[in-house]
Amino acid sequence: MAIPQGTDVAFAAELLKAGKRVAIPTETVYGLAANGTDPLAVATIFEAKHRPFFDPLILHFANLTDAMPYVLEMPSILPKLVEQFSPGPVTYVVKRTAFVPDLVSSGLPTVGIRFPKHPLTQTLLSQLPFPLAAPSANRFGYISPTNPHHIQRQFTDEISYILDGGSCVLGVESTILDLSQHTVTILRQGSLSVEELTDVLGYTPNMAAVSSSRPSAPGNVDVHYAPRKPLYVLSFKDLVLPPNGAVLAFGNNANHLNPKRTYQLSTDANDREAAGLFFDALHTLDADDTIDTIYCEPFPEYGLGRALNDRLKRAAKK
Ligand code: TXA
Ligand code: MG
Repeated sequence: MAIPQGTDVAFAAELLKAGKRVAIPTETVYGLAANGTDPLAVATIFEAKHRPFFDPLILHFANLTDAMPYVLEMPSILPKLVEQFSPGPVTYVVKRTAFVPDLVSSGLPTVGIRFPKHPLTQTLLSQLPFPLAAPSANRFGYISPTNPHHIQRQFTDEISYILDGGSCVLGVESTILDLSQHTVTILRQGSLSVEELTDVLGYTPNMAAVSSSRPSAPGNVDVHYAPRKPLYVLSFKDLVLPPNGAVLAFGNNANHLNPKRTYQLSTDANDREAAGLFFDALHTLDADDTIDTIYCEPFPEYGLGRALNDRLKRAAKK
């Protein structure tokens, strides 16, 4: 049975107040939201996603003022970053107070806070007396959703309502910044590019060392964002496309391959445009019965190309 969906913010608020789960639109990807102060409601998010409890959730607020009771120590750089980038695609990891349920932060002394930009979700948050805990609205390890259809493909009655905000404009998750230490560290590459961040900070932030056994952002596990079909990341130069293979094209890199088997991410090789379509491309090819294997070339390492390469690495067949 299809999940009810629509633009009724008041209905979504009632469901959330009753401890239910609602999918919410953001500028990055859709979230699977519940009352972030209610451990029982939070527990049902993990159940619905089949997500391990060691992987903490982000708390979503309308603005920094609403988040203050949950922040133990205000990092000195936080107001400046919020002024520049929020509401927007950044998650700030800060030391937390006891108002954050242990389950939300998986027992860590920190919590991720985020101020999403989508107008429907901003209105929703302003009508709620609590923050929303929300991971991306996909099954654990599967492709993130950037429109309601992607959610309908993965869930049924685990979600009470999809607040339909159309397609996500950015299409790749928020950039996660650890502000709980002395220096700013990027824990996850995302829709805010390193270049934009560097401009505001005045220096290049640290990049968390990638370790699959002890990831710094616990969700940075080895296999993630993965289609059910094998995805290979390789150079297209010598690729001979098998009959049931399909490629994710970026600019003219797949011009020599069968155009009927190509999902074009950006004809003029624009990293932002490609990021916006990336997860939809994976969903579309994964759902197409005539395709059994997906190929993609690494993206150029600038702007959102870095975040896309990170997703590719985890989604790819090893
Ligand atoms: O764009 C986004 O961030 C989306 C939308 C819905 O807001 N949310 C999202 O949530 O991507 P999720 O749960 O799929 O990814 C959040 C990541 C996880 O990898 C988790 O391990 C990490 O954030 N995280 C959460 N709290 C953390 C903390 N206290 N310290 C380090 N990493 C944390
Ligand atoms: Mg996710």
